[in-house]
Amino acid sequence: MNTTQSTTITTVPGCEPRLLGELGHGPEDLAAYRKLGGYRPLADTDGFLSEVEASGLVGRGGAAFPLAVKLRTVRDNGRLIAGAGGTVVVANGEEGEPASVKDRWLLRNRPHLILDGLRLAATIVGADRAYVYVSDPESAHSVETALGELDPDALGGVAVGMMTVQPGYVAGEETAAVRALNGGPAKPTDKPPRPFEVGVDDRPTLVSNVETLANLPYLQCHGSTAFRSQGTSLSPGTFLATITGAGRPPVLYELPHGMPFTELLGLHGVSPDQVRGALMGGYFAGLLNRTVLETTLDHETMRRLGSGLGCGAISVITDDCPVAVAASVLAYFDRENAGQCGSCFNGTAAMAAVAGALRDRVATTEDVERLRRWSVLLRGRGACATLDAATNVAASLLSQFPGEVAAHLDGTCQDCARGAFSADRPYEAEAVRLA
Ligand SMILES: Cc1cc2nc3c(=O)[nH]c(=O)nc-3n(C[C@H](O)[C@H](O)[C@H](O)COP(=O)(O)O)c2cc1C
Ligand code: SF4
Repeated sequence: MNTTQSTTITTVPGCEPRLLGELGHGPEDLAAYRKLGGYRPLADTDGFLSEVEASGLVGRGGAAFPLAVKLRTVRDNGRLIAGAGGTVVVANGEEGEPASVKDRWLLRNRPHLILDGLRLAATIVGADRAYVYVSDPESAHSVETALGELDPDALGGVAVGMMTVQPGYVAGEETAAVRALNGGPAKPTDKPPRPFEVGVDDRPTLVSNVETLANLPYLQCHGSTAFRSQGTSLSPGTFLATITGAGRPPVLYELPHGMPFTELLGLHGVSPDQVRGALMGGYFAGLLNRTVLETTLDHETMRRLGSGLGCGAISVITDDCPVAVAASVLAYFDRENAGQCGSCFNGTAAMAAVAGALRDRVATTEDVERLRRWSVLLRGRGACATLDAATNVAASLLSQFPGEVAAHLDGTCQDCARGAFSADRPYEAEAVRLA
């Protein structure tokens, strides 16, 4: 069963919208973007890189890696390996996480913000080529329209191309993006080499999430001190969070890192009493029980709990049984893995089978022990981190919801007796284009 729901868009009170822009005007065209100060010439490239470093901006694609480190590495590798101009930048807007809509929202509604960020990143690393990598045709159309509005030299001599691939959970992984741009299938490759060493056409390549790049124009206009005026010291700035679940329509919020989760819940109209837990980081970071109510929404807090913000998508679990949610997510990984690595396609299938049997109240204690073992042994295996995502879900189910697991072993889960939660793409949200 799939119940994709249309998403509404909003900022939280007191949060200056850096990424969502001026809502209520429809998709942003070039004139509107320029009015906000976009496409400013960049004279001092090294100075701007230092500003990015000082801002502490970390990636919004999942791993929260510092952008400045990636920029510096690609720039230096370009100088060392390929000579000046020999680097490539990829704006990753594939957004494989079904419960996330933020990248497609930006691409569909603020394409110039992304192109401007792409231009700034390309200028820093000395790239003469860049790509916007997507799977959503509407996003591709929006970016192509925006490119058509620009003078050839508006992007500082960077040639920007579009690449549209078939959607898939692994298609947005960085080596899958590079492989697709090199003419192959959008499936991950073994690492090393990583794209910052050998990427598109063997050139050092920066692959950055579109939301990450969308922060660069703000940084250019306002500087790192203003950037840090929102967020925490380790997770500076605002971020886009797709909030789904709790039987409510999805909402895309822009909010400062560090906001208490309960505050966001209040805005979302969900009482903490209703909350059993949450599925974190899209599907990547697994489950949290009611301890989620004690969190603030920043990377350091989530890491401390063994969880993650990932791409910023959080599905709030109220009435759904966490065992059944985990079973659906693991079945999704079983279907969506790229089928390239034995440990992954066998491992996701085995974990999905046990979780499904547990949901259906036919699993044994030995099955659950095997699931526990796999959730440790399979971590870090495979060419990409899909197995990490699957082991995160399995391990967190067992550690965060022991009572629910026990109720499934002895057949007393009342939620599932009434009909277990089941979805091909749990908590999927639909991206929207402003009217
Ligand atoms: C299985 C898998 C799927 C991924 N899918 C995406 C995606 O859809 N979009 C994205 O930006 N990053 C995705 N990533 C992360 C990318 O590999 C890469 O780290 C990211 O694009 C870097 O951007 P950032 O540093 O700006 O976060 C995925 C990673 C994994 C392991
Ligand atoms: S680990 Fe899994 S998803 Fe990743 S490349 Fe291997 S088979 Fe594909």
